[in-house]
Amino acid sequence: KKRERPIIAIDGPAGAGKSTLAAHLARRFGFLNLETGAMYRALALKAIENDYDFDEEAPLMALAAQTRITLEPQLDGNRVLLDGMDVSRRIRETDVTSAASKVSVHPHLRAWMVQEQRTLGEAGGVVMEGRDIGTAVFPDAEVKIFLDAAPEVRGSRRYRQAAPRSPALEATREQNSARQTSDPVTAEQQRLDEEVILRELKDRDYRDRNRAESPLRPAADAVILDSTAMTLDEVLLQAEKIVRSHLKHE
Ligand code: DC
Repeated sequence: KKRERPIIAIDGPAGAGKSTLAAHLARRFGFLNLETGAMYRALALKAIENDYDFDEEAPLMALAAQTRITLEPQLDGNRVLLDGMDVSRRIRETDVTSAASKVSVHPHLRAWMVQEQRTLGEAGGVVMEGRDIGTAVFPDAEVKIFLDAAPEVRGSRRYRQAAPRSPALEATREQNSARQTSDPVTAEQQRLDEEVILRELKDRDYRDRNRAESPLRPAADAVILDSTAMTLDEVLLQAEKIVRSHLKHE
């Protein structure tokens, strides 16, 4: 069966710039963007709020069964509803980031997520972003892009994106300086902060790439975009070209 409109799958490790790219392509081609990571984050938030163990799959599955996660595509990302509550901001905080990474290793839970995601995307006309879209959710996606970058580059982009609020960061800051939080950040402090972020990112990379069920890897037919030495504009342009050349050959 052929879809009326294509599915564009964007996969890759944390901090590679997938969300920015997905939002851009969706705007450019008039598609809906769907951030599948937000679904893992929303469930992780519910697990946090209800004091669930992130390592126990069966209770998490039971929790998922009574959970309604809604992605509302916007121009610059997704508005995320957890049982009707807007959690779009909350799910970006570091405790949820870390919990989502742990929750997403469980195979049955992934199967549940994949089912939900197929329902959301099957009509096509979507840019779907995650870790396993091209390999597990839509192996028949018309366009697959695997966006990668060296860990150090992803870490320092993350650092510059926002003043990160991380429990680990707060802890090292307290250990490493007696300064007030209102003091300007010193070069030394910045280096230490970046180090913490990089360590957290590498932990998540490790879990993504080494889980038994659909580990992070490029699909055999994915185009690999390594943005280590590219500017954001270059990445967006390259990806646009990839999508255009597919649309032309329809
Ligand atoms: O992309 P993100 O950082 O919002 O994803 C949050 C977590 O969910 C991340 O640890 C990896 C996991 N994830 C996944 O396993 N499969 C997906 N398709 C999307 C995200």
